[in-house]
Amino acid sequence: MAEAILEVRDLHKHYPLTQGILFRKQVGAVKAVDGVDFDLVAGETLGIVGESGCGKSTVAKMLVNLEKPTSGTIRYKGEDLTKLSPRALKAVRRNIQMVFQDPYTSLNPRMTVGDIIGEPYEIHPEVAPKGDRRRKVQDLLDVVGLNPEYINRYPHQFSGGQRQRIGIARGLALQPEVIVADEPVSALDVSVQAQVVNLLDRLQSEFSLSYVFIAHDLSIVRHISDRVGVMYLGRIVEIGTDVQIYDHPTHPYTQALLSAVPVPDPEARAHRERIILTGDVPSPANVPSGCRFRTRCWKARERCELEVPLLAVPAVYRLADTPARHDSACHFAEEKQVVPPEESLAHPDPLADGPAPVEAAREAAEGPPEEPGPDAAPPDEPGPDAAPPEEPGGPKTL
Ligand SMILES: Nc1ncnc2c1ncn2[C@@H]1O[C@H](COP(=O)(O)OP(=O)(O)OP(=O)(O)O)[C@@H](O)[C@H]1O
Ligand code: SF4
Ligand SMILES: [Mg+2]
Repeated sequence: MAEAILEVRDLHKHYPLTQGILFRKQVGAVKAVDGVDFDLVAGETLGIVGESGCGKSTVAKMLVNLEKPTSGTIRYKGEDLTKLSPRALKAVRRNIQMVFQDPYTSLNPRMTVGDIIGEPYEIHPEVAPKGDRRRKVQDLLDVVGLNPEYINRYPHQFSGGQRQRIGIARGLALQPEVIVADEPVSALDVSVQAQVVNLLDRLQSEFSLSYVFIAHDLSIVRHISDRVGVMYLGRIVEIGTDVQIYDHPTHPYTQALLSAVPVPDPEARAHRERIILTGDVPSPANVPSGCRFRTRCWKARERCELEVPLLAVPAVYRLADTPARHDSACHFAEEKQVVPPEESLAHPDPLADGPAPVEAAREAAEGPPEEPGPDAAPPDEPGPDAAPPEEPGGPKTL
């Protein structure tokens, strides 16, 4: 396996639960992330999936130092980020940037697009000296398929897809090697999702980026990821290549997740087994003993209550030459094909038409030409026609 650019080991983030007004006493902890391990190989995309509240965003925030881990290590090219001095960390952090979920709230409405994208240069002036910044920002707008002349516009003058492009341009400003994208397309219209995923795909090859890509949509994750990690209640319960996870899942939770993905072919749909999980996800403040999935697992036995299953290749597959031979945290891991491979997702390749060229993406993203002019509407008073229409063109296969 190629060299890991990020190595995450035994990562924990516990938020204390306190009681009392004058004397605050810790009475427990929300175990948002509770022992996560994974490697990110240079140039690959690692997808992370899992139900709401399983800790995906908390992992993302720790990777980019927006949250401090309670314990565990995050190594970037061998250097443990959790042990670096603030000064050394600032230099290294430049290389790991984040793209956020909501393009509507993640951009400051009072700043121009130029200021938003160029803001990281205030912290890292060595990347772009003052006189060079405008040109750099315009280059970045061009790279993400937006008109460089829109540099003085405000976020409200863009559609959702265009705003996410601005967020991506900002993420690229410091020429990072790793991008952590937390649900980067979830807030977007379905037709726009494909364009943004295409853009991320193209940028990855253009700038040799490595991605940690978090999403709910298993089809999108399969399209973009080389490997996929499935999270449940603060831990990764299964991890492997896209083929291993989607076509040869061995963990009951992964199997249940996949069984809920829509299958377009009516015949295949009629024959596939739908696994309905019972019960709610337990609170991360009160994690079940043994296997944390046991309260919802149809295969649970006594051992599951007593013994925490480790994330490792199950003994039964250790010597076998099969795609089922990958890490799975289950005492009774067993391959189960939930959907036929050729039909394994509603959108087996959502971007089958291939990535749109920059020009096409830009044309689709810009809408009608609209000169901002020196008196572009101030952020608080969006004119009735301030926002260009949502991208009309582009692949609509998602
Ligand atoms: N600052 C905080 N204080 C206390 N609990 C928190 C805090 N941030 C997150 N949590 C809790 O940690 C758990 C994991 O949250 P997180 O946002 O990482 O989940 P997620 O997998 O990203 O969910 P979603 O898919 O809804 O975005 C949740 O139970 C959440 O309520
Ligand atoms: S260890 Fe037991 S409870 Fe956990 S997933 Fe496997 S069978 Fe289910
Ligand atoms: Mg989240």
